[in-house]
Amino acid sequence: MAKFKVNGRQVEASGPDDAPLLWVLRDELGLTGTKFGCGVGQCGACTVHVDGQAIRACLTPVSAVDGLSVTTIEGLGAGGVHPVQAAWVEAQAPQCGYCQSGQIMQAAALLAANPNPSDAEIETAMNGNLCRCMAYVRIRKAVKLAAR
Ligand code: FES
Repeated sequence: MAKFKVNGRQVEASGPDDAPLLWVLRDELGLTGTKFGCGVGQCGACTVHVDGQAIRACLTPVSAVDGLSVTTIEGLGAGGVHPVQAAWVEAQAPQCGYCQSGQIMQAAALLAANPNPSDAEIETAMNGNLCRCMAYVRIRKAVKLAAR
């Protein structure tokens, strides 16, 4: 049974160790801000942070986060509005919105590691987060706003 922190709260998964973290977050813990897109690590909709690193929750067995600290979109701002979330609002980045929590988590991890990324660094970091509405121009604008 994996024991770990989610958004600062200690939790214990009740299912099998190989259950994807995504489903533990959504189904067991009710944290539905993390989305299921492809289920095979290709779209980024399920991006969360594990000890500050952006990972794909659909590909991560819950046993892999035993003893670690997971942050989801619900905990990103620690009860307030995270600067990346504020930039997303300012840029009016979402269209349908489905991919946006993953996009925001990916951008927040990038900016935590590299507060002033170049266009190429933004492109590289965000490249694996797909948006079927093609809102990429506004998403990139939001990342730059957050980096100010
Ligand atoms: Fe995890 Fe697509 S749902 S990468």
